Amino acid sequence: MDFEHGFTLWRDLGMTGGEGARPIPFPALIAIHWVHRFFAIVAAAVLAWFAWRACAYPATRSGGFWLASLLVVQLLTGMSNVVFQWPLLLAVMHNGGAAAMIALAVSLNYRAWPQVPQREVGASASAVSVRAAE
Ligand code: HEM
Repeated sequence: MDFEHGFTLWRDLGMTGGEGARPIPFPALIAIHWVHRFFAIVAAAVLAWFAWRACAYPATRSGGFWLASLLVVQLLTGMSNVVFQWPLLLAVMHNGGAAAMIALAVSLNYRAWPQVPQREVGASASAVSVRAAE
C-alpha cells in the first residue's frame, strides 16, 4: 500500500500530486480503499450503537430502525461494489446510502433533543451521573 501518494490531498483526480504528476499508482488506490474499509467498520459500529439507542425512545424508535436498515444496505452495497467490480448503479446507491444515513442521523439528533430534560442542558457532568442514578 502506498499511503504517501494515496493521501496526498492536493492532487488532480486519479493523478499523483506535485511536479511531474502521473496516473496514481495502484498501491495508492489500495491504501485509500483499505482505510475506507477499516473506518467503515468503525462507522458501522458507531451507527449500529446509535440506531440501538434511538430504538430505546418512542420519539426516535422508527428512525433507529431505519438507520439500522440503511446501515445493513450500506454494508451490502459496499461489499457488492467490490464483488461486482463497481457497477455504476451500486456505486451511486452506496454514495446515496451514505448521504441518507447522514440526513437520518441529523434528524434523529433533532428529534432526540426534546427527550433530554432541559434542567440538564448546560449542567455539569455530575448532572448526567445524577440522571443515570435515577
Ligand atoms: C458505514 C459504512 C460505509 C459508509 C458510510 C461508506 C461510504 C462511502 C462513500 C461516501 C463513498 C464515496 C466515496 C467517493 O465517492 O469518494 C464510498 C465509496 C466506496 N465504498 Fe463505502 N462506505 C461504507 C462501507 C463500505 C464497505 C464495508 C465497503 C466494502 C467492503 C465499501 C466499499 C466502497 C467502494 C468499493 C467504494 C467506491 C465506489 C465508487 O466507485 O464510488 N464501503 N463509500
